[in-house]
Amino acid sequence: MTIIVTGGAGFIGSNFIFHMLNKYPDYRIICLDCLTYAGNLSTLAKVMDNPNFRFVKASITDREAVYKLFEEEHPDMIVNFAAESHVDRSIENPEVFLDTNIKGTAVLMDACRKYGITRYHQVSTDEVYGDLPLDRPDLFFTEETPIHTSSPYSSSKAGADLLVQAYHRTYGLPVTISRCSNNYGPYHFPEKLIPLMIINALHDKPLPVYGKGENVRDWLYVEDHCKAIDLIIHNGRVGEVYNIGGHNEMTNIDIVKIICRELGKPESLITYVADRKGHDMRYAIDPTKIHNELGWLPETKFANGIKKTIQWYLDHKEWWETIISGEYENYYEKMYGNR
Ligand SMILES: NC(=O)c1ccc[n+]([C@@H]2O[C@H](COP(=O)([O-])OP(=O)(O)OC[C@H]3O[C@@H](n4cnc5c(N)ncnc54)[C@H](O)[C@@H]3O)[C@@H](O)[C@H]2O)c1
Repeated sequence: MTIIVTGGAGFIGSNFIFHMLNKYPDYRIICLDCLTYAGNLSTLAKVMDNPNFRFVKASITDREAVYKLFEEEHPDMIVNFAAESHVDRSIENPEVFLDTNIKGTAVLMDACRKYGITRYHQVSTDEVYGDLPLDRPDLFFTEETPIHTSSPYSSSKAGADLLVQAYHRTYGLPVTISRCSNNYGPYHFPEKLIPLMIINALHDKPLPVYGKGENVRDWLYVEDHCKAIDLIIHNGRVGEVYNIGGHNEMTNIDIVKIICRELGKPESLITYVADRKGHDMRYAIDPTKIHNELGWLPETKFANGIKKTIQWYLDHKEWWETIISGEYENYYEKMYGNR
């Protein structure tokens, strides 16, 4: 089995690669990643020498490079994590989100049609469903919830999802889509809420919380997301969408307070800043389908997962310090430029 994992130098993709190489020692895993600001090759350092692993630096929007890789590797499956993923950046500059998230998805699927594969899996997000009101805790996103996006990021992800479904219906491409809630865990880029708060707290810097911090997210430990995708690509039904989430809703402010408590830092570090434009209030996933069909259940409770995550950031200062300093952007050239 040969699997191309796109965006594997990022947060979830890298965790997925570790999971797959560990669980299926006879699989060949190829990471295709163009190393944007969010991709960091040092993240993959521990698998670089694995003979069943290959890293290829190219963009999913580069048709020639993608086709060449398919000709070289004859992949059985594609798991597409590659994306521009930060909502705030999409508000500042939507264009690259359309290029990567929509056009890149089309290029990958065109290659799948041309060369043939057994599965194309699209890693999507619960943000395609828009948001839920805070005063209706009885409401959850199911796979039937209409697409109703808020940000250029979620719109680009929704556009990609529709295209994936169209390629299934029009060309019979064997696709699956997963829509997951917010992830946390090792290798999360320092601009995102949980790592940002951990790192700022460690430096006794202000902890900037949008609005009143009342926005609710449904947090899932990254390993549980990777296990769900593993189940879907092997046992999921072609053409189907699977929601992934662990019924772990928390407000942003509660998350930040937990981090302060775990690190022994005062809550006086918390500062409230102007809210994000169009900020979604609440996301909450109903994971009944993936549970009933594939037997998936989250294994890591938040209380445990957040402790593990904080400990990981304490043990891997070098990883995030090079990111914060911007040095990591030169890492590829330094380490691999002349190879
Ligand atoms: N982080 C979450 O909580 C979350 C939740 C649900 C779904 N998702 C989805 O999961 C996927 C991965 O998210 P993440 O948080 O790991 O993102 P990330 O920003 O950490 O990583 C994205 C990776 O994609 C690469 N990339 C970007 N543009 C590319 C291109 N044109 N060609 C090749 N590689 C490119 C980057 O270099 C980076 O390595 C995304 O599709 C995202 O929408 C994320």
